[in-house]
Amino acid sequence: MVNVPVIAIDGPSGAGKGTVSQLVAKRLGWHFLDSGALYRLVAQAAKSHAITLDNVEALETLAAHLDVQFCVTDDDLPVRVILEGEDVSAAIRTEEIGNDASRVAALPGVRAALLERQRAFRVPPGLVADGRDMGTVVFPDAEVKIFLTASAEERAQRRYKQLKEKNPNVIFNDLLKEISERDKRDTERSVAPLRPAADAVIVDTTELTIEQAVERVMAVCEQRLGNLH
Ligand code: DC
Repeated sequence: MVNVPVIAIDGPSGAGKGTVSQLVAKRLGWHFLDSGALYRLVAQAAKSHAITLDNVEALETLAAHLDVQFCVTDDDLPVRVILEGEDVSAAIRTEEIGNDASRVAALPGVRAALLERQRAFRVPPGLVADGRDMGTVVFPDAEVKIFLTASAEERAQRRYKQLKEKNPNVIFNDLLKEISERDKRDTERSVAPLRPAADAVIVDTTELTIEQAVERVMAVCEQRLGNLH
């Protein structure tokens, strides 16, 4: 649907995209697409079917036939993600699945298989789409394009704080290394590499709180779309 407005929010892992995008969608009463979850789901499905990440053909078939439901709950809980009837909301958020997702996301056939599924989220009154290529490939005609970023150190620091609560043995330098490697893979892949669209507004969240980042993004949206309240 061409006349449904889209706010595309792209950027590297850990820049706060997920939280900021969901808060913006909530404020506007618009739909939300977590495109990274789709790549994570392909990685999760591969794991549960014992498909190795070098089996490109099988991964493409998995992506094309992914049996997934996103269940919105009544309260403030995050969306539940159901894969082949099983709740995998927590399972797809591990570092292991994140790294595998980054690998499957480098496969052109997997990306192509997920394209229409992502575009189907564009329904009235509007869509906030979170990912790496929302403004460049999936919704190149998006009304608003934001590139949300932060320094690798700051992103590793945020992840460290999150993980430390569950696992006191987590090592900061390992996280920084993983984040840098994932950035490199996402930026250097030949298909849909992570980069700001030519018409994207860059928002650096290194020095911002989540609330400040949301305000900054809302201000850009209002500039482009008019008063949204
Ligand atoms: O946003 P995330 O961390 O959940 O994404 C997981 C991986 O999926 C990430 O390493 C890059 C990839 N990804 C992508 O290539 N394109 C998207 N639109 C979203 C995510």
